[in-house]
Amino acid sequence: MCGIVGYIGSKSAKPILLDGLKKLEYRGYDSAGIAIFENDGIQLEKKKGKIAVLEEALKGKDWKGTVGISHTRWATHGKPSSINAHPHTDCKEKIAIVHNGIIENYLQIKNRLIEKGHNFITETDSEVLAHLIEEEYHGDLSEAVRSALTKVEGTYGIVVMHSDHPNLIITARKGSPVVIGIGEGENFVASDVTPLISHTKNVVYLDDEEIAEISADKYRIFTIGKEERNHEVSKIDWGIEDAEKKHYDHFMQKEIFEEGDAVYNAMRGRVIPEEGIAHLGGLNMTDDEMRAVKRIVIIACGTAHYAGRVGEYMIERYANIPVEVEYASEFRYRDPVIDEGTIVFAISQSGETADTLAAMQEAKRRGAKTLGIVNSVGSTIARESDGGTYIHAGPEIGVASTKAFSGQLTALAILALQFGRLRDMSVSTGRKLVKELIDIPEKIENILTQNDFIRKLSEKYSIYEDFFFLGRGINYPIALEGALKLKEISYIHAEAYPMAELKHGPIALIDDKFPCVVVVPKDDYYEKNISNIQEIKARDGRIIAIATEGDKEISKIVDDVIYIPPTMDLLLPLLTIVPLHLFAYHMAVKLGRDVDKPRNLAKSVTVE
Ligand code: G6P
Repeated sequence: MCGIVGYIGSKSAKPILLDGLKKLEYRGYDSAGIAIFENDGIQLEKKKGKIAVLEEALKGKDWKGTVGISHTRWATHGKPSSINAHPHTDCKEKIAIVHNGIIENYLQIKNRLIEKGHNFITETDSEVLAHLIEEEYHGDLSEAVRSALTKVEGTYGIVVMHSDHPNLIITARKGSPVVIGIGEGENFVASDVTPLISHTKNVVYLDDEEIAEISADKYRIFTIGKEERNHEVSKIDWGIEDAEKKHYDHFMQKEIFEEGDAVYNAMRGRVIPEEGIAHLGGLNMTDDEMRAVKRIVIIACGTAHYAGRVGEYMIERYANIPVEVEYASEFRYRDPVIDEGTIVFAISQSGETADTLAAMQEAKRRGAKTLGIVNSVGSTIARESDGGTYIHAGPEIGVASTKAFSGQLTALAILALQFGRLRDMSVSTGRKLVKELIDIPEKIENILTQNDFIRKLSEKYSIYEDFFFLGRGINYPIALEGALKLKEISYIHAEAYPMAELKHGPIALIDDKFPCVVVVPKDDYYEKNISNIQEIKARDGRIIAIATEGDKEISKIVDDVIYIPPTMDLLLPLLTIVPLHLFAYHMAVKLGRDVDKPRNLAKSVTVE
């Protein structure tokens, strides 16, 4: 979704801003723009399309200004176009703003401002902010922004500059993240830390309804009620190299190859093999509080939701606690029952997904203890939850989530272990689980050695336009995630069903043009799954199986097999997902798709 980068210092702002925007490309966007103080005024350029188009348009412009703001837009109000791209300006082009979020009452404000003589040129909601600040401006920019923001409803991460204040940029947030990067003699502002790490590791996260005045050598933060705030400076714990592609062709490929590391990093320091126990410190719960939990609700979207569905099996089996997994977007508008003893986990890679955040806030409002399973350190869900755990997967740049999924599954397995050992789980089961978990990264490496084989398989199947993904028990959510991945990045129609559900309708679609990917490791359901596979075969369906090493029988029944090493049933998803991620990746490459930035998608969906 939309991205923001701002700079104020002594270096030329243009290359810093363009480089920052490129680092935000992964979020998904359709147009980009930049505004720089130059020759006592604000110079502006914005273009529909990729940042390269904007760069091209800027080639002849020798701007040397040292203060500027920039933006990548993902259209909500008004089609993608150069005119609708940010920054937006006021009538006199003295004010420029970039905005993430949605101004819900923009039409009322716009009509009122038009009556007052303001001239609007875009279809966006964001443009009202520039005009509203113009209306409220009487010499004090910070006050004008503050006053304007008291009149808007909705969400905003905003950065503002004014040609009368060449040494100042103002930023503010409500519901859309803003982070200030603190340099020496220079400061930055951005919508996430990715564009900042090549300049500084010291950052300050704004809270909702806060405004910051930023100059080259200082920043001050105030609440919208004018109270000064003193935030702790946080250190980003990863480096620029973590956000680079290295020798890989795509970020997604690199991130799939990091799935083993993701498991390791989510587990590191959190399990004690000898005692067969786990400890996620950030939950902020005593053992007694954990024993008193009667029900767990998991809320999440997309891939994180499917991780939650895997977690449901793990926690119910190991900890004997009932779990419900909800789409966050549905949970927030239902009348969810939160009784004493219910705790709510929000799972989110970015920690900024609007639906997940709103659902978590709703759960909190209803009295639930809310906990986050989050990757992005300092993100809103991490900060607004009552506790939780980071998965420490490092930056995930590919829009389609992969290594974060592995990290989320690991955190959920640890959670199941922690709750389980406080209840009925025996020490021997606990030890076995820890031992198997520790072995998972190596087993993932083993699966990754089949990369070429999986690539060839994807190429062979790239002629098909429809796929079923089927799994049973804990591998049913893996079928869901496998199908989602294929849809997301290759644009191939894929549907997932519980294995046995196929015969209740969907089997009508099976013929030799509708292949099935079946997740059938040697687990408790193996025999039953084989019967279901026979039903597909009897209808000429082509089948790719994800099966356990050594299973020779399966290769006689299905068309192709990808083997995974054995592990405990409830940890199998950590392995079965890897070939499915690779399968989707290679299929998308074969079909010439934009793997890291698939059409219509955004990495972090910060609107409803
Ligand atoms: C978007 C992304 C998905 C992701 C989902 C949830 O739709 O395209 O890949 O799974 O958001 O994101 P989160 O950051 O909350 O895990």
